[in-house]
Amino acid sequence: MDNSMGKRMQEGLNMAAHKILCWDCGREITDMYAYTCPDCGGLLTIKMDLEPLKGMSPEDLRSEPIGVWRYAPFMPVDKKNAVTIKEGGTPLYKTSALGKEIGIKDLYVKYEGANPTGSFKDRGMTIGVSHAVEIGAKIVGCASTGNTSASLAAYAAKAGLKCAVFLPSGKVAAGKLAQAMFFGAKVLSIDGNFDDALDLARKMSEMRAIYLLNSINPYRPEGQKSVLFEIMDQLNYDVPDRIILPVGNAANIWAVYKALTELMEIGWIDRMPMLTGIQAVGSMPVAKAFSEGAEDFVPEQNPETVATAIRIGNPISGRKALRAIYDTNGYSVSVTDEEIIAAQKLLGRKEGIGVEPASAASVAGARKLREMGIIDPSERVVCICTGNALKDPDTIISNCEKPISCANDLEAVRKVLGA
Ligand code: F0G
Repeated sequence: MDNSMGKRMQEGLNMAAHKILCWDCGREITDMYAYTCPDCGGLLTIKMDLEPLKGMSPEDLRSEPIGVWRYAPFMPVDKKNAVTIKEGGTPLYKTSALGKEIGIKDLYVKYEGANPTGSFKDRGMTIGVSHAVEIGAKIVGCASTGNTSASLAAYAAKAGLKCAVFLPSGKVAAGKLAQAMFFGAKVLSIDGNFDDALDLARKMSEMRAIYLLNSINPYRPEGQKSVLFEIMDQLNYDVPDRIILPVGNAANIWAVYKALTELMEIGWIDRMPMLTGIQAVGSMPVAKAFSEGAEDFVPEQNPETVATAIRIGNPISGRKALRAIYDTNGYSVSVTDEEIIAAQKLLGRKEGIGVEPASAASVAGARKLREMGIIDPSERVVCICTGNALKDPDTIISNCEKPISCANDLEAVRKVLGA
């Protein structure tokens, strides 16, 4: 191997050369602050140069610990510039009692609540904030139903950047709000819902007042691809039949799909799991579009669900999510708040896994699709559970048995416990 090729391979392993393209018309975008195509208004996406990975195998990356940066050759940011709090590397549990209860023998849970700030958003933020530093951004910002803001606030703190977060007033779970405040972000409580907050944040970024790190920023889903790479590593590249995710703003299911297309491109897998997106009944533009066979969705005006993280009526990446679902022969369905809370409890009480309501939607969806006969009992299914239970303590407290008042007295305790 000559020197230049060796160097190129080494650089290739540190990051992927890439281009930003319009997902709709294919135009190349050079403005680092653009989030939509200046020609057609379309969504953007990043095209990776995966040449350096061709001829390699997953084994070649395993000297790095499992986590987002193991997959640097698939990422559009130089590993040398990583702003990292050791994100990813989350457990993949093979369930026992839960799978039995739902009627799926091989049911896995990828537990994203184990990330540094308690949700999968850290995967996108390590890449997004590293990129923000690379391009010299000074103030980063986002709109959020909670997790994105908690994550951005932490990574901005780590990078020494100012941070502004736009939250729908009164609609953000306590644990998420607390984190954004704790990590030192400027927290703006907006009189409106998430879609309104995102509109405002986008306008601020159009004025170049903030560098926007919502998932409309194409660097974010790049980091989120890593959840799929990890699942494949953890299953030794034995492709599961189906992966189920909650869908809110709809970027995560797209990120998983994009990761799959990249693994297909370099020949590390030869088939794709059926990507299955779950929404809440009160907030289901993508599931509704799927039920009608449509490629685009109709925004909903007043989304409502206990799963605040996916309480989104106008999902920015909704069209991409539908593409991911159709292309993999997947499915989309909505579940009720009652089904979400029941699934959250099942995860806690059968497996000892604590997730927030939005995350439980994936398990509620698995259960519903099994009952509908869409999922076969013999399928190998992975539910991605996106966030930690402790971020939404109020919902848990209002849905569990209340603590029992008890006198400071041994007899009284024995009586209460019947022991
Ligand atoms: N699960 C959790 C815990 C989330 O926080 C979100 C999104 C989703 C699922 C949905 O993912 O948007 O990629 O379809 N939360 C956002 C936020 C919107 O602001 O934290 P998606």
